[in-house]
Amino acid sequence: MAAHLLAWGLLAATTVTGQQYDSGTRDADAFSYVQPRNTTILGPYGHSPAVYPSPNATGSGGWETALVQAQDFVAQLSLDEKADMVTGQFGPCVGNIVAIPRLNFSGLCLQDGPLSIRVADYASVFPAGVTVASTWDRQVLYERGFAMGQEFKAKGAHVALSPVAGPLGRSAYSGRNWEGFAADPYLTGVAMEHTIQGHQDAGVQATAKHFIGNEQETQRNPTFNSSGTVTDIIQEAVSSNIDDRTIHEIYLWPFANAARAKVASFMCSYQRLNGSYACENSKALNGLLKEELGFQGYVMSDWGGTHSGVASIESGLDMDMPGGLGSYGTNVKAGSFFGGNVTRAVTNGTLDESRLDDMIVRIMTPYYWLNQDQDFPSVDPSSADINTFSPRSSWLREFNLTGERSRDVRGDHGPIIRRHAAEATILLKNKHNALPLKAPKTIAVFGNDAGEVVTGPLNQDVFEYGTLAAGGGSGTGRFTYLVSPLSAISARAQQTGTKLVQNWLNNTQIVSSNVSDLLAIPTPPEACLVFLKTWAEEAADREHLNVDFNGAEVVESVAAFCNNTIVVTHSSGINELPFANHPNVTAILAAHYPGQESGNSIVDVLYGDVNPSGHLPYTIARNGSDYNAPPTTAVSTTGRYDWQSWFTERLEIDYRYFDAHNIPVLYEFGFGLSYTTFNLSNIAIEPLVDSIPSAPESLPIQPGGNPALWEPLYNVSVSVTNSGPVQGAAVPQLYVTFPDSTPSGTPPRQLRGFDKVLLDKGESRTVSFELMRRDLSYWDIVSQEWRIPEGEFVVRVGFSSRDLREVVRVTPVSS
Ligand code: NOJ
Repeated sequence: MAAHLLAWGLLAATTVTGQQYDSGTRDADAFSYVQPRNTTILGPYGHSPAVYPSPNATGSGGWETALVQAQDFVAQLSLDEKADMVTGQFGPCVGNIVAIPRLNFSGLCLQDGPLSIRVADYASVFPAGVTVASTWDRQVLYERGFAMGQEFKAKGAHVALSPVAGPLGRSAYSGRNWEGFAADPYLTGVAMEHTIQGHQDAGVQATAKHFIGNEQETQRNPTFNSSGTVTDIIQEAVSSNIDDRTIHEIYLWPFANAARAKVASFMCSYQRLNGSYACENSKALNGLLKEELGFQGYVMSDWGGTHSGVASIESGLDMDMPGGLGSYGTNVKAGSFFGGNVTRAVTNGTLDESRLDDMIVRIMTPYYWLNQDQDFPSVDPSSADINTFSPRSSWLREFNLTGERSRDVRGDHGPIIRRHAAEATILLKNKHNALPLKAPKTIAVFGNDAGEVVTGPLNQDVFEYGTLAAGGGSGTGRFTYLVSPLSAISARAQQTGTKLVQNWLNNTQIVSSNVSDLLAIPTPPEACLVFLKTWAEEAADREHLNVDFNGAEVVESVAAFCNNTIVVTHSSGINELPFANHPNVTAILAAHYPGQESGNSIVDVLYGDVNPSGHLPYTIARNGSDYNAPPTTAVSTTGRYDWQSWFTERLEIDYRYFDAHNIPVLYEFGFGLSYTTFNLSNIAIEPLVDSIPSAPESLPIQPGGNPALWEPLYNVSVSVTNSGPVQGAAVPQLYVTFPDSTPSGTPPRQLRGFDKVLLDKGESRTVSFELMRRDLSYWDIVSQEWRIPEGEFVVRVGFSSRDLREVVRVTPVSS
């Protein structure tokens, strides 16, 4: 049986004897690629079948002409130049491929990240992934992606290290969930697709990251002894052990959308996957990505995520970033697993040069497809000055930096960012229509998240005072300005004649005092606005789900005096909200990380200039302890391979878990209120094809996989009416319940469609959802195919995962 036909996790260890496995070990000498490799089979799953050789790009799906240009380019390269093309160098950008002037190739500049071009001055900070996902608005996702792409290009960055679908949000605690979109593969898939299209329409290569299973920060990299070289690993990185069905239906799903959107590159993730490092996992890179999804671009490593040379190359890795050896690439002077080792491996016959050529063809095809060979802006020299990751002193190669310094690339993006963050704001509670504010005579503002940031623009540490508008790590942005809630509220209060009675921004003081004593006024202000924040960053998982700086106690203290307490959270995502049912807490708004226009966006919502239409991209449980799938943290044994994270919850992440176990929640996935109300009626379903076999037709693979999976099979329509007092945008959501014949473990309901529709007061509109074959299929581990199960599907449409109002049934495949 061909190696790639074996599903991982499907077969017991005994039935796979003789297979070559990517195991839980790494070759100490990167170039002695011995088969079979040392094998540790980790129970019923947790191992990776080997899939070789790495498929060559064909340019299918529209890249055919660019592929020929890339092949011509490769044909002119010397072996040393070829090694340069696949190996990062420290230089002006976060990642750099050096120029080849004789071929008019000016090199590649790769820059973070998913909400801003980070290593740059005069650039915008956009709303985070989790924020923009909360809009459930394809147009917003595209606009943001396009505006970001414009800024990357104008700064001379060929490649944006954005967007993020891993982490997906398996665990509420993961430190980087906010960089990605939603704890649901469907919504994340749509967000990936539109963001990528936006980036690439602006002329910049997008990068789908982190592939795959990157669901926690703890032990994402190996631990090294103090010398920190690659040979001194004490413990390997955590292994995300994911079964075959789960990886297809949950974690691979949004990456399939990315491949279909013709994303230029994928970044493989730091951690191990079923025993072997994600950047040398042939099943993941050769098998899932290049064969099954037909991905035509290149795979780059996360920074320092390469753990071998030829073994990684044969497994599907095309570019080593940032190029140095050692933990996180710090030891650049020690060379690279790629670089000169690639030339040596080709020369001594270990590596077939045709594989190296394919790596470069994959790198250069999107470059030509996006016309990056024509008039692409130079790297802004100022980026090199502020690049702390690879300062000039670390450069080993020449970089010729020309062109205007400190270009202001922000354009007219401020108003776009303001609108997007306002549209992303989720109204969770609105008792007695406390919001929108109706020209209150007096208001008071509380909380250390309300005011100005007083510690500079870099946003890389938890700071006590100042509003929080982005998380930390490589996914943050460098603020040129940040509108605080307090300044925007003050400006608005002046316009409306509202008296801003007092501001109390010291949480410790608010918690330890009687608020009526603090304010020393006889009657409470008409509205008390409390601003709370929750920090999260790369390289650390969250330790708890509370709002930071005793935020919950701040609310209790204010609400003890003020019977109209309105809470706004600026958070990375999931929070416990113990004050949600407090009778004096009249309104709660989740604004997440809104980017640079934060204060303006929230004022637009508070005063009703924007009617909130955000909906939760995850579930808020009643208690933090209700969440399943915590990160693996407390590994106290010292064995080299002891860090194992078993994804035993399988398909049951977020609402899929709460629904499967009938666990009551505070605010469910998809929930969000408006200043108006909506109704649904007249659901109908109509087939779009004559007959529907269980298995898809086997068509030639295109980017995104078998095109038959993307074929629309049904059209579901429903009428949405604005039944309330003002104009507003509804988010009708479609959830599918699979028939009983589907293998066990299938979640009770799964999102398979949504739309956003703006309706005037009293207006009705019909919205349609196309159900594609993939939407109605499960991954069959036996046939290694997506299959539509026999029996009746229940299709429900509503305004959240637990507010499903219209239902229709359909039986695509009869027994
Ligand atoms: C590591 C992060 O995981 C990745 O997202 C980022 O793009 C690189 N560092 C470069 O900063």
